[in-house]
Amino acid sequence: MNIIIVTGAAGGIGKEFVRQLKNEKGIDEIWVIGRTEAKLQALKDEFGDKIVPYAVDVTDDASMMAFQDVLKEKNPTVKWLINCAGTRALYKPGADLPRFLATIRTNGVGNIAMCYICIPYLKKGSILLNVSSAASFQPLPFNNTYAASKVALRFYTKGLERELKGKGIKITCCCPGWVDTELMKFKPDEVTPIIKLPGVTTGPHVAKKAIKDARKGKSISFPTLKVHRDYYLTKFLPGKVVLWYAEHIECDNVPAVDGKGIYT
Ligand SMILES: NC(=O)c1ccc[n+]([C@@H]2O[C@H](COP(=O)([O-])OP(=O)(O)OC[C@H]3O[C@@H](n4cnc5c(N)ncnc54)[C@H](OP(=O)(O)O)[C@@H]3O)[C@@H](O)[C@H]2O)c1
Repeated sequence: MNIIIVTGAAGGIGKEFVRQLKNEKGIDEIWVIGRTEAKLQALKDEFGDKIVPYAVDVTDDASMMAFQDVLKEKNPTVKWLINCAGTRALYKPGADLPRFLATIRTNGVGNIAMCYICIPYLKKGSILLNVSSAASFQPLPFNNTYAASKVALRFYTKGLERELKGKGIKITCCCPGWVDTELMKFKPDEVTPIIKLPGVTTGPHVAKKAIKDARKGKSISFPTLKVHRDYYLTKFLPGKVVLWYAEHIECDNVPAVDGKGIYT
């Protein structure tokens, strides 16, 4: 059985991957993963019977081991593994440790763990696509855990290219800048940074470009010219300039909220 696995499939960019790959040739099932069963079920209602929902929390060991057992039992060939589960950083000053760590646990560890359990089922011709972020290009003061989670996933993905060399598996890391999804919509009771959203793009565009780049086996997928430019600027500009740009041009982060940072 040939399958596609998409994590973070219920909305935003992940849902676009499902929409754009739903008629992929030679695919028997598309396994959609997220924590909210009802949202996954809604994907099945919208896209049809090929969609198979699995409620899995990528940050939860027991949930991941149960999913690993499903893989063992069904022994599919994973033609596409798309890791798109993610959460934004906590901007709130104070002590909400689980929520604070959720960023690293989901974006970094969770997606890496999903690779770990799925890679044995990727075969020659399979594609592994991890959704990191332009936030992985440099540290992001005041959005620090998010940037750290994303650089973990990007470096891990890059290292996989070497580890899986010779197996005929294409590996791509997608690095979007700002994308207009739920992730960027802050709830009324949340501390909200002022995000200027330069170069904001859409989920359908990010998914389309990433699928195209992944088919070609490109190492990194840059959804926009701005992000592509930023990648090279962060490599060649002095570190202090890069940090100043990240802090002041992309966002006015937590210091704009009551004059406080996350640690004050
Ligand atoms: N939006 C942007 O500006 C932007 C920019 C760069 C990169 N990205 C990255 O793109 C990816 C998709 O984000 P998006 O913008 O499409 O946001 P989104 O609409 O909020 O989608 C995130 C998805 O991840 C799932 N998820 C969250 N925590 C999970 C967990 N512990 N286990 C399993 N699934 C989990 C959510 O579903 P449940 O809540 O139902 O679990 C949701 O479907 C993320 O990795 C994000 O960091 C986004």
